[in-house]
Amino acid sequence: MPYRAAFRCIAGCPGEISIWQPIYQCPRCGGLLQVVHDVDALRARGAADWKRCFDERYAHAAKPNGSGVWSKKEWVCPELRDENLVTMNEGATSLLRVERYGRAIGVEDVWVKQCGLSHTGSFKDLGMTVLVSVVKQMIGDGARVRAVACASTGDTSASLAAYAAAAGIPAVVILPRGRVTPAQLVQPLANGARVLALDTDFDGCMTIVRRLAQEDGVYLANSMNSLRIEGQKTLSIEIVQQFGWEVPDLVVIPGGNLGNVSALGAGFDLMLDLGLIVKRPRIVVAQAAAANPLYRAYRNQWRFEPVAARTTIASAIQIGNPVSVEKAIRTLQRYDGIVEQATERELADAAARADRAGLFTCPHTGVALAALEKLAARGDVGKTARVVVISTANGLKFADFKVAYHTGRLPDVDARHANAPVELPNDYDAVRRAIDGVTEGHA
Ligand SMILES: Cc1ncc(COP(=O)(O)O)c(C=O)c1O
Ligand SMILES: [Zn+2]
Repeated sequence: MPYRAAFRCIAGCPGEISIWQPIYQCPRCGGLLQVVHDVDALRARGAADWKRCFDERYAHAAKPNGSGVWSKKEWVCPELRDENLVTMNEGATSLLRVERYGRAIGVEDVWVKQCGLSHTGSFKDLGMTVLVSVVKQMIGDGARVRAVACASTGDTSASLAAYAAAAGIPAVVILPRGRVTPAQLVQPLANGARVLALDTDFDGCMTIVRRLAQEDGVYLANSMNSLRIEGQKTLSIEIVQQFGWEVPDLVVIPGGNLGNVSALGAGFDLMLDLGLIVKRPRIVVAQAAAANPLYRAYRNQWRFEPVAARTTIASAIQIGNPVSVEKAIRTLQRYDGIVEQATERELADAAARADRAGLFTCPHTGVALAALEKLAARGDVGKTARVVVISTANGLKFADFKVAYHTGRLPDVDARHANAPVELPNDYDAVRRAIDGVTEGHA
């Protein structure tokens, strides 16, 4: 049976729109679109059959199954022709049990989904492979696309630039000047994108790129384009698959523009619809206190107001007017959702505590961990609950933050787990004295 997918308005306006058109909002009400699948066609195969099929394909090297996204192609973008696949074997990232960290915070069964171990070092690759592949097929079928473009807090631009370069499609990325790390800035430069650093914040960049998409023939690659969500939703499918098709009790995810939490929910929704799972996890979105519009809405009966985001070390989620807020609220309402926030100190200490147990966490993962620690401390998560924390980016992109933390140079953060290097003369006795006490706390 042929599988198919189309855009539909999230607010329920009638009609479907082809995903092969450059369209990002409902033409009737202006709301966001979502991709819907022909669920009856997918259901005809049976849940056990899908599980077997996905397990057989998982992380096989041959294209497209080396990709965690394209090994689930029928659920993602079934009408994409294989010659248009632009993949870097994204996804299929490890799901790691962090026992020492779990013990330290009083929750025994904590796992970290390592999305930062993907091609460009963040979860953005999961969605970008879908979007760029679709654009490649559109161009092949005669559409005129000048370039693909995004506003970005760093990771989206890295991902877009890499996939566009692999496909041979021009890319434009618009960044808030001075607010992305050097490691993030150099990624799109290296991949040959036109990089525009604007004197504004992320929300200002977003306004400009939306206008470019409307008036100037560029194709919008931000997560308001729900093709991205289709790839990102494989995140929850992959987690459940890695647990042998068991659903965890709680998933904690950092939120900025709020596309990723919507994607997480969409993956669980489809598994429920197709009978692969029968229960829902609880979902927790974690925000930086400096950029917390969803947290405020949660505390105010889901009444949302944009805020001016203040500077945070978690720079990729320094977003005051999240594009996908409506989708995110709907998701949280279905998943018994909680929103928690973390101060700069809390996120930095949580990241460092997890690093002490062997991880190397980015500050956004620190926000998620700090939220989990707060939930654990007030008893909102049981001691034996199975918890998955989504680590969204590779800590190596944020090395400056780590160095500043460990050398006591983070403003407003009195680093509890700082571990500064010890500088010594070339002297054996000095070295011996310096390693005294090194075994403390490691029994
Ligand atoms: C590292 C990292 N973590 C979290 C997020 C938040 O994801 P979303 O904007 O989909 O909420 C982003 C992107 O914005 C990111 O780059
Ligand atoms: Zn509509």
